[in-house]
Amino acid sequence: MTILVTGGAGYIGSHTCVKLLEEGYDIIVVDNLVNSNEKAVGRIQELIGKIFPFYRLDVCDVDALRKVFQNHQIDCVIHFAGLKAVGESVSKPLEYYSNNLISTITLCKVMKEYGVTCFIFSSSATVYKPGSSMPVNETAELGCTNPYGWTKYMCEQILRDVALTNPDWSVVLLRYFNPIGAHESGQIGEDPTGIPNNLVPYITQTALGKLEKLYVFGNDYDTKDGTGVRDYIHVQDLAQGHVDAVNFASKTTGCEEINLGTGIGYSVLDIVSTFEKVNGVKVPYEISPRRPGDIGTVYADATKASRLLKWKAEKDLEDMCRDSWRWQKQNPNGYNT
Ligand code: NAD
Ligand code: UFG
Repeated sequence: MTILVTGGAGYIGSHTCVKLLEEGYDIIVVDNLVNSNEKAVGRIQELIGKIFPFYRLDVCDVDALRKVFQNHQIDCVIHFAGLKAVGESVSKPLEYYSNNLISTITLCKVMKEYGVTCFIFSSSATVYKPGSSMPVNETAELGCTNPYGWTKYMCEQILRDVALTNPDWSVVLLRYFNPIGAHESGQIGEDPTGIPNNLVPYITQTALGKLEKLYVFGNDYDTKDGTGVRDYIHVQDLAQGHVDAVNFASKTTGCEEINLGTGIGYSVLDIVSTFEKVNGVKVPYEISPRRPGDIGTVYADATKASRLLKWKAEKDLEDMCRDSWRWQKQNPNGYNT
């Protein structure tokens, strides 16, 4: 079975490529490298000892995409390609709407032309309306607070409509919670450009001494220690969830929204203390004001993933902290180390 992986040079895509190859799938990767490094593709090939086709192209470019479908018999598409920085999406809404929506629409059009009917989409817990009760399940009310979130919300709706009018299609909308960690080899991992926005890359760069200290955004939330609580999930578990989603989608039709999380919430200070403990390093931090747009607590009800995909997160917070640190230590400057 051959899977087209868009955004396969990125953080979650690269880990998923490794898992797909390990499980015997053939893959084709397309990525325009707007937020990634071609070296990630080389590392995947080294890890698995297998060469696969890589096309540097923009998924919004219909002609370039058609060539890929002409050259290869594709059975299923996993669509990771997209812009993902929440803050940047507020200052560049048109870039986010055009990239994330047009790439998804273009992909669907070309899939239809070539009779490919299996689509796995990278959605996000950010589609849930703030104020939902936790753990949040897939039937909770939707609503977003920033353009990035709305692009996921809109792509989900587009894909639901495509599945409705094309009854032979199978679409899985995977709503990720907070992916962290890295491949156990330390060869692939998250490589953010500039100063990281997300908690764990900020922690690893602080532990390395590249950043002076972590700013903990608020300690007055209604949580056990006042700091924000999230459902952190190991990127390797997330990658396995995609393989399971491909298996599920290849046997069914219709459209399913599925949370991928652990069902456990950890606070910012839980992450800091676990990271320090398992890695034997210090993470200096300072409590600072809340980050605008943040909410106190988000964690998943992951029972639907267990029921439909037979998937469950296997790795714990210690694994996540250990693997994130190994990647950062071995690659202090990411793929450009
Ligand atoms: P990433 O930025 O590391 O990977 C996305 C990849 O897509 C990058 O390699 C980028 O170069 C590529 N890309 C972007 N636009 C493209 C285009 N038009 N054509 C071709 N390639 C393009 O991000 P990630 O963390 O691996 O996230 C993967 C997907 O999961 C994204 O859609 C993201 O929105 C979604 N997601 C991520 C998180 C998270 O916290 N990391 C959470 C929920 C959902
Ligand atoms: N935090 C800090 N200091 C930092 C960075 C983060 O205290 O320097 C805190 C945040 O306030 C929050 C927690 O750490 O409580 C996690 O923050 P992240 O920025 O790592 O992640 P978010 O939960 O804000 O958002 C992430 C992705 C979104 C995605 C969402 C899905 O960035 O793209 O998870 O739940 F939509």
